[in-house]
This record gives sequence, C-alpha cells and structure tokens, in this order.
Amino acid sequence: MPLLDSLLEPVSAPDFPFTPVETSRLGQVDFDALGFGRVFADHMFSMDYRDGDWRDARIHPYGPLDLEPGTVTLHYGQTVFDGFKAFQGEDGQVRVFRPDRNAQRLHDSCRRLCIPIMPLEQMREILFAATRALIRVDRDWIPRAPGQSLYVRPLVIATENTLEVRAADAYRFMIMTAPVGGYFGDLQDGVSLRVEERYTRAASIGGLGAAKTAANYAASLLPGAESRARGFEQVLWLDGNEHRYVEEVGAMNIFFRIDGRVVTPPLGGSILPGVVRDSVLTLLREWGVPVEERRLEISEVIDALRAGDLEEVFGAGTAAVICPVARIGYLDATHSIAPPVPGELTRRLYDELTGIQCGRIEDRHGWNLVVPLD
Ligand code: COI
Repeated sequence: MPLLDSLLEPVSAPDFPFTPVETSRLGQVDFDALGFGRVFADHMFSMDYRDGDWRDARIHPYGPLDLEPGTVTLHYGQTVFDGFKAFQGEDGQVRVFRPDRNAQRLHDSCRRLCIPIMPLEQMREILFAATRALIRVDRDWIPRAPGQSLYVRPLVIATENTLEVRAADAYRFMIMTAPVGGYFGDLQDGVSLRVEERYTRAASIGGLGAAKTAANYAASLLPGAESRARGFEQVLWLDGNEHRYVEEVGAMNIFFRIDGRVVTPPLGGSILPGVVRDSVLTLLREWGVPVEERRLEISEVIDALRAGDLEEVFGAGTAAVICPVARIGYLDATHSIAPPVPGELTRRLYDELTGIQCGRIEDRHGWNLVVPLD
C-alpha cells in the first residue's frame, strides 16, 4: 500500500495492542487556557528496541516512565524528538500537517544521535499508523477553537542502564499528544528577540544543529533566561564560528523582509530544517515574492532597520506557526520593527497556512493527511 494511503485506512480498535484508560482526564481540561504542552491526552504510543530489533508497539494510558537512575538518556542526552499538529476542521475532518516531513527528520535525527534507525519507510508507516490510532482513540481531545490543535510529539530515548559513554543497546520510541494553543499567544503582539553574542546554539560545522535533539534545547536555556531577564522573549542565534551570521530562534526559523525581498538563512547543518520554513518558502515562491536563502549578517539586518528597509520580521515553526517579531535587541540597543506588526506578508502567510491546515483553503500541495474517524 502506498505510504500516504496507509493513513487513510480506517483503523478498527487501534492497529496495536490497546490498553485504554480507566477514567478519562478530558473533563478536567480547561480548553480556554491550554497553553502549550501542559496537558496531555489520555493515551500514548510506545515501542521498544532491544536485542537488535524494534518491537512491542502498543497504545496505552499516558503516564510516568519507569527508568533506572543510570539510564543513558538521562546522563548523555541520547534522545531525539519531533513535533507536528492535527487540526479539527470546521467541516469535522481531522487533518495532520505534513507528517511525512517529520518522519524524515526524526529518521535523520536518530541517525545523528546514533540511535538504531528503522528503514525510513517503516518509520513513516509506524509514525502514521500510531498517529492515526492515537487520534482515533483520543479524538475528543482535538481542540476546535481557532489557533488550537492537537500537537503530536514523537520522542526516542536511550533506555539502557549504563554509565559507559557509547550508543545504548536499548531504546523506547514514544508518541504523546497534547491539545495546545499558540506557543507565543496572540499573533497581534509580536515577540521580542535578543541577539545572542556570547553563547552558541550549535556548532557551525559537524554539530547537532540540524537534529531535533535535547542538547540544542539545553544549550538555549541559560541564554533564554538571560534574555527574559532583560525583557526579551526569545533568543536570536548567530553562527557558532564568528557570531556574525543569523541562524534561527530555537523554537522557530527566522525570515526578514528587506526592501521587498524575503531573506532566510540557508540549511547548512547548523539550523533546524523546519517543516513550516519549507512551507513558507513554497508559498512565497508561488506568490512571486523574491526569496533568498542565504547567509545574512546581523549587521545587514540592523543597517536595513536603520535605513527603514526592514519591512517585516517573522518566525516560522510548528509550535510557533507564523509569529511576527516586534522588537530586536542587539548590543545595548532595542530596535522596534516598523508597524504594522504583524506585517502584510506575515499575516497573509499565517492566514494561508492556518487556512490550509483547517481545510478552509484548498490544499493544493497535498500537505494535509486526512484521518478518517469512523
Ligand atoms: C516545534 O515547533 O514542534 C518544536 O519542537 C518547538 C519547541 C516548542 C521545542
């Protein structure tokens, strides 16, 4: 069966051994105050790697893990994750946005973290089948309000109990889902970024930057806290060699509209290959907006700002969707992006993308996978 079709197949009680919750927690959830990733749906998927094989795929109640204190992932960070979203459309259909891209990235992240990879096709099939099954068993957890979705978080951790520094011989692949609102709240507000001059998110060459792995996020915590203490919400990372070229924002890729052209850093192994980044580039090119994927010095951004040529700045990510940037802090100065924030293109991209995801706008690219519920 073609892989994408496999998501369309109806699932009779999940394709996997299924242990249902005794009592659902759904009634305790305030869907008006979801935040991002604070509550998790009733069920999750797990699968284990041992004796050289991935096995025991199952769906069971979401709950704590039983891990030894010596577990490899806790000490040496051998862990990868990913994230994509399912949307409840006004037409009642549930659509999952571009999970094939996430399967590919999860596969690539596993390879970089020396986690035994299953063939890409098998990874896709399992990810799709498990997502479809979770959506079906927890369909009532998919929020319906605009801006809300069911976030799907695959996670792979090394579970061997040893302090030896080497790739583990046992792993668990899990998928949990969480009803979420916007990561940065209201689109109107715009986020503030502080350009990080001291710390580095990822090495420029040969590092972990393109993998979705815990270390990249751990590296961001101290600079993130320092940024917040100085009144900025997020860090704008520069390259690890010279701290000269713009990289990304950690929770999203970054775009600058300068004098009518949209510029974004290229994928060179140090930034995350974002699925929404790719979707934005596709849409902009279709709309005839000049797009440049190229190295961009932070001084070019500040010069454009001072010259009045920096028309819009926005981030793009699964959690962040399309997120306008309102202020950039660099050295000791804070620069405001010229109003309106969000700018015209930022808003158009947000409307187009969320319209496609919810089924309001025709999905010309075949990005959505519809999950039949019955
Ligand atoms: C995502 O956009 O899916 C992310 O993983 C970003 C983040 C919340 C860590």
